[in-house]
Amino acid sequence: MDKSKTAEQRATAVVAAMTENEKLRLILGYSDPDTAEKASDQAVSPTAKADLAAHAIKGAAGYVPGVPRLGIPAQTQTDASIGVRVEGMGRTALPSSLATAASFDPAVPYAGGVMIAHEARLSGFNTFLAGGANLAREPRNGRNFEYVGEDPWLAGQMAGSLIAGIQSTHMVSTMKHFAINDQESQRTTVDATISPEAARQSDLLAFEFVYEKGHPGSVMCSYNLVNGRWACENDYLLNKVLKHDWGFKGYVMSDWGAVHSTVDAVNHGLDQMTGWPCCGDGVDYFSPARVKAALAAGDITQKRIDDMVTRILWPLFADGVIDHPVKPGPINFKADAKVSQHAAEQSLTLLKNDAIHGRTLLPLTGVTQLAVIGGHADKGVLSGGGSSGVHPVGGSALPASKHWPGSAIWMPSAPLAALKHALPKAHISFSAGDSADAAAAAAAKAQVAIVFVTDWRGEGSDNTLTLKHHQDALVDAVVKANPNTIVVLETGGAVFMPWLDHVPTVLEAWYPGIRGGQAIANVLTGKVNPSGHSPISFPASKAQFAHANLPGFGKPYNTAVHITYDEGAAIGYKWYDVNGYKPMFAFGHGLSYTSFAVSNAKADAANDLITITGTLRNTGKRDGKGVAMAFVSPSDYHAVGWEAPKRLAGFAKLDLKPGASHALTLKVDPRLLATWEAADDSWHIKAGTYHVLLGQASDDLPISVDVTLKDKTWSADHQQ
Ligand code: BGC
Repeated sequence: MDKSKTAEQRATAVVAAMTENEKLRLILGYSDPDTAEKASDQAVSPTAKADLAAHAIKGAAGYVPGVPRLGIPAQTQTDASIGVRVEGMGRTALPSSLATAASFDPAVPYAGGVMIAHEARLSGFNTFLAGGANLAREPRNGRNFEYVGEDPWLAGQMAGSLIAGIQSTHMVSTMKHFAINDQESQRTTVDATISPEAARQSDLLAFEFVYEKGHPGSVMCSYNLVNGRWACENDYLLNKVLKHDWGFKGYVMSDWGAVHSTVDAVNHGLDQMTGWPCCGDGVDYFSPARVKAALAAGDITQKRIDDMVTRILWPLFADGVIDHPVKPGPINFKADAKVSQHAAEQSLTLLKNDAIHGRTLLPLTGVTQLAVIGGHADKGVLSGGGSSGVHPVGGSALPASKHWPGSAIWMPSAPLAALKHALPKAHISFSAGDSADAAAAAAAKAQVAIVFVTDWRGEGSDNTLTLKHHQDALVDAVVKANPNTIVVLETGGAVFMPWLDHVPTVLEAWYPGIRGGQAIANVLTGKVNPSGHSPISFPASKAQFAHANLPGFGKPYNTAVHITYDEGAAIGYKWYDVNGYKPMFAFGHGLSYTSFAVSNAKADAANDLITITGTLRNTGKRDGKGVAMAFVSPSDYHAVGWEAPKRLAGFAKLDLKPGASHALTLKVDPRLLATWEAADDSWHIKAGTYHVLLGQASDDLPISVDVTLKDKTWSADHQQ
């Protein structure tokens, strides 16, 4: 407890004072007390059951008993990246992580992280299972809404900032799901084949950036296999990449039920088995009996057990969990809702706003007759399902089933009421959208129709990108009745929009969180100028998918399947560029009610590092936030071994008055210019001319300046 010592020294001192049984207590985590209580006494000892019954929080994700004798608290674990998820406990939900990524402003997830972590601590939790950062390699992945888009640099900045915000409040957060867990179909049995070069330049690079920005105390290994080895016993991922190359000092916890061995898991880098006895093989691989037997047989070492325990203790000291014990208390939900609303207002993405007879429909001005249609807009806004489905303060606006992953949870924030409040003089009708004819009739009577369409996604299954419940036909009928139609999307990722050519205005609200209705109304009415930019590409058709079929999609759970990621690191816009595809909406696309321009671009390559400077100007007539993006493109991408013609190298979001401009400086991380050389574990920048492209989206890069880079190689081993 001597605070003058480093976290490492303190953790080591505790381990030295521990009995073997105390050590083994820390490496096995339990799921919630009810599940543990139902298990046999062999599976969960009576002592552990009593501990859980007395101290664990019912309905929460997990619990790891502490060692009170030595001042080590129990680890109380809650899901997930958008807020505290406990059945029956109303808490504040942020917009989905994908939405927050659309803000292109790391301050947004940071503030969100601080807010949800305060709620977690006041609810009795000290460990947050937040920080999802798998790349949206597969647009149909049912968990893309929990992640932060398709680009490694963007994902790293956004998920890293969330984690940093959470941990700033003296909690431990995780980075998950490590790694290449890019589809939900057969997630517990799918084996992903990927070359080390492609992995290091894509999914693992994203995690590397998250790790450096957020310093998570814990990393959660995923359910799937990677190159034939389970992620939670994958020596390459855990021991080599994470612990050796990146120098990770915290602990690897398993996803719930993702452990398949004792000896391999221990020796290949797993430090804590969590969620027992829920899920998985039904074997207590990290129970004291099994671990002691493996020790006695000489299959694992005491040194490694001590290392596992030190790793678990280290972040408890480093992040201040031990020095700042959690104290349950009242939560200021009003203040927290504002944080969530702000995040939504920075994230809503205006995809299309074409002028009809010289006028755009948004922002709504002078409208006296408005027809609001569909999407339960009279009740609330949608959120994603599974372990990141937060039960909101005030309850779900529509009944949500109690079973996991449950039916949809609706945030109690009705866009209809918010619009009525924002436009008190307008007559606003509502039609549920069950009948396309009734909706069309309502639209025909109004000046403008707004159709809300929803697409629910949840953990454990994938999606087809086709809207369900006849919503495409509903939009068609409405726009036929009234061409002044706005579509508001509440989706967990990209969806197909077969009606897009006929609909002039589309606002992507993602899953906008507990004040989503107000945020949508504020953007529609122009109180807030939209500034979100899409963190994913929207495919125009199935023909643009990298994989025509998702292995195991719709098949019974636990079917062994295999996927080869032969597109390598060419994910998202990179895949579109390689193939010359034009997406429906490009990565980075997002409109505003004002306009911006980048100018004065310069790129300097002193000391082999590219520094990009320029100016962003608000060229329109309203206040607004603009996003400048820089991409780097080699003269010949094949010749330098890149996966695609260009890579995002930096971005900045600036708040500007009309006519105002501000200088930008973007320093490019050298790994974004390099290729991974698996033969000698190094990064390599190949000499040549590189174009620095600047603009406001991956398909809107009007400025190009050249830099010349020298050949450069450096080791990936942080210890060198
Ligand atoms: C999910 C994790 C989550 C865990 C605990 C798993 O099903 O994949 O993201 O943290 O459950 O609830």
